[in-house]
Amino acid sequence: MLPMERLARRAGVKACWCKDESFNPTGSFKARGMSVAVTMAAALGARELYVPTAGNAGGALAAYAARAGLPCAVAMPEDSPSANRLEVRALATESFEVPGLIGDAGRFLRERYAGREGVFDLSTLKEPYRLEGKKTMGYDLLLELGSLPDVVVYPAGGGTGLIGMWKAFDEMQALGWIDARRPRLVAVQMESCAPVVEGFLAGRDEGVPPLAPRTLASGLRVPTPLGDRLMLRAIRATCGTALAVSDDEMLHALREVARLEGLLLCPEGAAAWAAVLRLREEGWLEGNERLVFFNTGSALKYPEVLALVRPPDAGRPLRLVGDQEA
Ligand SMILES: Cc1ncc(COP(=O)(O)O)c(C=O)c1O
Repeated sequence: MLPMERLARRAGVKACWCKDESFNPTGSFKARGMSVAVTMAAALGARELYVPTAGNAGGALAAYAARAGLPCAVAMPEDSPSANRLEVRALATESFEVPGLIGDAGRFLRERYAGREGVFDLSTLKEPYRLEGKKTMGYDLLLELGSLPDVVVYPAGGGTGLIGMWKAFDEMQALGWIDARRPRLVAVQMESCAPVVEGFLAGRDEGVPPLAPRTLASGLRVPTPLGDRLMLRAIRATCGTALAVSDDEMLHALREVARLEGLLLCPEGAAAWAAVLRLREEGWLEGNERLVFFNTGSALKYPEVLALVRPPDAGRPLRLVGDQEA
């Protein structure tokens, strides 16, 4: 949990932290879910594992499967970031790069392994234990800050991070650690792939699949998340919101946080920071909030995106709220 004093001033909020998940093994928060899921799958007798992935979950599964001594197969879209593809080729028993999106990767694996005994599918929300691993992010918020923040801004794709934290809050209340108050949960998606945002804005209980999901934030390229209904419930139950940002806003946010805090965000994390700025501009954030936004992975897994970051303001210091005019 990194205190971001300059970002707090930039956005004009009371306090701001970045929950930085880039230090997990394999460089993303996906390790939290896979560590638990692989341990449980092995304990319950699975002999072989597979997962379709937008990229990072595949690397995490492959690493933990290797540690557990289990063979694994990973399939991902053929245009996934190069680091994801290379990591999985090196770690997994079998790796497949398929045309299309994560849903096509899932179909490919189900067909390939149909009828094979002892093979277990670790797809998002098709087994319970990845969620159990992800929920630890919710516990961390309390343990690291001493009390829960007012607002949590999270880049949502398949949804397990958001849903897991929501579950953690209920558990912590049952344990008597917190009262009934909850952080307002904000789901951030990309303009071209915003099923949960569209569902939220339309007042629906489920997501609205996008027509052409294309974004640099590859972890958010999940057009039909299985967790759409649960995400929408979590957002509404906590008086949160959902919003989409553009790839341009994301790139600008990445550059800004790099300059102001010396922190390189992954594109999904940069999208979350872009959303904070928009929410403040629109007045949804009033300025008195203690806020946490998530950096869900390492920027170094996205060399193609970093190559697009340009310094539009080279040499000019960024102005913060409270700075004196020159
Ligand atoms: C870096 C990164 N951030 C966010 C997400 C979305 O995560 P979730 O499934 O918890 O919504 C992903 C999913 O692939 C990801 O790789």
